[in-house]
Amino acid sequence: MSERVIGVLASGRGSNLQSIIDHIEGGYIKNARIGVVISDRASAYALERARRHGIEAVYINPHAYPTKEEYEQKVLEVLEEHGVELVLLAGYMRIVGDTLLDAYEGRMLNIHPALLPAFRGLHAQRQALEYGVKVAGCTVHFVDREVDHGPIIIQRCVEVREDDTEETLSARILEQEHKIYPEAVRLYLEGKLKIEGRRVRVLE
Ligand code: GRF
Repeated sequence: MSERVIGVLASGRGSNLQSIIDHIEGGYIKNARIGVVISDRASAYALERARRHGIEAVYINPHAYPTKEEYEQKVLEVLEEHGVELVLLAGYMRIVGDTLLDAYEGRMLNIHPALLPAFRGLHAQRQALEYGVKVAGCTVHFVDREVDHGPIIIQRCVEVREDDTEETLSARILEQEHKIYPEAVRLYLEGKLKIEGRRVRVLE
């Protein structure tokens, strides 16, 4: 069977990217490789992580394109050039538009550091602390046309402690992110995820 090709879009430090790389290299995610990592930020450490593992790292400057459509058309071109089947958003700080979704809806996943539908958008962990919830967590979901909204694949809870700060809570959530993203990718690649409306059934 030929290897499945994953593409990753990342804007920052890339610890979730690293976790996917490690789970491929360690054999947990089988018969797959990351074909390309694309970033909208030249300084994203995710690009460096990719290079260190011999993965092609491409910076695409959104400001070099007159419209979002043209920027996304370029991203799409690079994904397709590399034969990408599954796209993972891993700390990608842009709202995905129609150009990418027309091509990849149902084949694009995101990880969010909250138990959706609570605390969508930026600074989810801070939002959770400020709201006063006692349980926080993270979510892997399919990407749809609304931000942090598509059908949910896996969620994992973490407790919120009395003395938590945004940093300590984020760190505890991140540890779980690094587990559930590879799990979701593996399930996807094994063909075990079936989307039924908003529900994702995990087939045995
Ligand atoms: C993670 O918390 C992820 O849930 C959110 O952005 C952060 C990215 O971190 N979407 P990293 O770049 O993967 O380290």
